[in-house]
Amino acid sequence: MKLAVVGTGHVGLVTCGSMARFGHEVVGTDTDTTKIELLNAGEMPFFEPGLPELIEEGVREGRLSFTDEIETAIKGAAAVFICVGTPPRASGEANLAAVEESSRTAIRHATGPLLIVEKSTVPAGTAHRIKRTVRLERPEIADDVDIVSNPEFLREGKGVEDALNPDRILVGAESDRAFSTMREIYKPLLDRGIPLFETNIPTAEMAKHASNAFLSLKISFANAIARMCERADADVVDVANVMGADERIGRQFLNAGLGYGGSCFSKDLLAFGRLATRLGYDFPILDEIARINDETAVSVIDKVRDALWNMDDKRVAILGLAFKPDTDDIRFAPALTVARGLLDEGANVVGYDPQASANSKAELPDLEIAQDAYSACEGAHCLVLATEWQEFKELDLERIRREMRYPVVIDGRNLFDPVEMSRLGFTYYPTGRPQIPANDS
Ligand code: UGA
Repeated sequence: MKLAVVGTGHVGLVTCGSMARFGHEVVGTDTDTTKIELLNAGEMPFFEPGLPELIEEGVREGRLSFTDEIETAIKGAAAVFICVGTPPRASGEANLAAVEESSRTAIRHATGPLLIVEKSTVPAGTAHRIKRTVRLERPEIADDVDIVSNPEFLREGKGVEDALNPDRILVGAESDRAFSTMREIYKPLLDRGIPLFETNIPTAEMAKHASNAFLSLKISFANAIARMCERADADVVDVANVMGADERIGRQFLNAGLGYGGSCFSKDLLAFGRLATRLGYDFPILDEIARINDETAVSVIDKVRDALWNMDDKRVAILGLAFKPDTDDIRFAPALTVARGLLDEGANVVGYDPQASANSKAELPDLEIAQDAYSACEGAHCLVLATEWQEFKELDLERIRREMRYPVVIDGRNLFDPVEMSRLGFTYYPTGRPQIPANDS
């Protein structure tokens, strides 16, 4: 089947690569011509494990190409996947201008029956607006155009794995024609028994927002328990293990730490809250999730202050700057919130990240960047572990201690073993677990 993909961010490029792998003929397009030039030169606009290989495979096998002309991408396409950004407006509402613009351009250039597939996360009601745009732009083809909500559940850093082996496929549509085209598109996955949920359109739109809100709720719940554990001499990791052993609760996303970052949870939570308000429903727990998440960075800064007394001229090393491991994405990264807070209090802050150092420096010019974890710790009075990259699990901690001026470690992701940290002579501040040695204040 011939498919067009509008937007070449994480969702768009993974969609391009996976749809080509499923055997479709895919053309990716973006209004950002530099991105298209990069892609046509065989380069990636961002770091995502496995994606360069997947894209290269599609291009090599002649099923995937890129163009900056949307009309070329749309020509002859049976479906167009809308994968553009939906950043927050000042009000918190999702800015859907790019969704409208790309749908409108697709409609203008449609050459036959077309499915407009929403992949970007959008509030319930968006498909309805797209349908209206179709009627206004080209009433003569309105009956040949179906709108579909097909939310994407992939995680950054694991995007390729998630797209090729999803937990479920969700399709919201309102005609048999649309459902059957979507079944055809996803046939290779459906043949492998991947569950398919077919719903009406607002249900699919709502399910995506509700999923992200619930995942962020789990994280904030764990972080609130962590704050209580710190006051009660309890251990949040054990609490999460006990809670998670109950199948009704589940262990995933109960890791207390520096909280969630990234472009999705914060933005989607805000937009979901605005949608609730617009629908006339009071849903204050959504604000509470964000409030608890904001507290996590404050709690780490408090620990640095507790350990170092005055920040002036103290040197703090931050390991991990990306919002999570296996990405170079620093949007809403908790590590940078901590770095900013420490810089504001007069500390010298040096960061290291396996992939996100350049992006972080561009965002925060006062942040010093080290070439590796050991040089970041050289002469540091304190180390903050902010993102749990695999290479940090394998650090030579004795060497880290030798490099540091004071052996103080604040573990924002509970990456290290408290017993080992104590044996090595660190003053160790985990998250939501008893401090080592016990706080003497
Ligand atoms: C999230 C969802 O997990 C995806 O299903 C969804 O498709 C995506 O948003 C989206 O809407 O596009 P993503 O933001 O890539 O994916 O990353 P996650 O793995 O969900 O992690 C989000 C943040 O939560 C990270 O900062 C991570 O460190 C943090 N986190 C995660 C915790 O603090 N504790 C946990 O237990 C789990």
